[in-house]
Amino acid sequence: MLDQVDILKEEIKNYQVNNEQELEAFRLKFISRKGVMTQLFEGIKEAPAEKRKELGKSLNELKNEAQVKFKVLISALKLSSQTSTGDLKDLTLPPGGIGIGGIHPLSATWERIIEIFGRLGFNVSEGPEIEDDWHNFTALNFPPNHPAREMQDTFFIEKDPDIALRTHTSNVQIRIMENQKPPIRTLSPGRVFRNEAISARAHCIFHQYEILYVDENVGFVDLKQTLYHFAREMFSKDVKIRFRPSYFPFTEPSAEIDISCLICHGKGCNICKYTGWVEIGGSGMVDPNVLENCGIDSQKYTGYAAGLGIERTCMLKYGINDLRLFTQNDVRFLRQFSSLGF
Ligand code: DAH
Repeated sequence: MLDQVDILKEEIKNYQVNNEQELEAFRLKFISRKGVMTQLFEGIKEAPAEKRKELGKSLNELKNEAQVKFKVLISALKLSSQTSTGDLKDLTLPPGGIGIGGIHPLSATWERIIEIFGRLGFNVSEGPEIEDDWHNFTALNFPPNHPAREMQDTFFIEKDPDIALRTHTSNVQIRIMENQKPPIRTLSPGRVFRNEAISARAHCIFHQYEILYVDENVGFVDLKQTLYHFAREMFSKDVKIRFRPSYFPFTEPSAEIDISCLICHGKGCNICKYTGWVEIGGSGMVDPNVLENCGIDSQKYTGYAAGLGIERTCMLKYGINDLRLFTQNDVRFLRQFSSLGF
């Protein structure tokens, strides 16, 4: 009889079920009162007296093992019916939607900028985000103790020699002019970093696009006309553009660029601070010192440059009033742009 117990133990151990019927077969054989267990327990009576104790013990063990295995088989069957298609699923039902996501509004704006300037003959160039002092400041004609070099604006990585996260995309101007001969017509979009508190209007990481055109006889009128064309293509045909005199170390003369507020159309709102105008960037004629720093003859060549914010451009285009929305990854915000294409 003990041999029989061993055989049954083996059988229980190796038992596998693929469906309800096989599970029921296990139950009938090992768990039910009419099964093999009852018969075995009854057999104890016939066994010699000195063997009964040992036999009872191993039968109890067998019973326990059967009960534990039964629970295991139930869960295994449940799991496999959840993961496989099973017989009960209706394969004719239409499929559920596949969430393929959409284009982030900043990416869509970035691509649109490249497209508009591309048609005007501007190629795309990029520069490093970790930059040395020469390319981020010195070659751009920043005096040695200009406030923009100070810790409050710049994330320094190393001191003496200074290595920092670039504070603007103007570093790419220098890298291009050092390596190419005019005519140069380039657009440099990229990520920039400033040590600023995050708010609805400011972030420590944002994006700019730098525009640089260097050739013989380039004048301020070319800058104005190019940006006017860009604004009409980007925003709308009836947008107005205005240049306000300003100062940047790397341009002379310099101007800040405003466009007419597309949110309130001049009526006054918090985006344009009730002026009817919104600033989108800075611009000017490349300072002759900058051309010379890059080995370009400033007697022969002139150029214009501009640096605009991608976030600012995108906010104006889509009427977004908080910069933080771009990085919060809230699907309720992102879904509103899911139909955007490149
Ligand atoms: N680099 C400037 C900034 O981040 C923006 C700028 C102004 C870029 C004038 C230019 C320019 O190329 O000509 O504030």
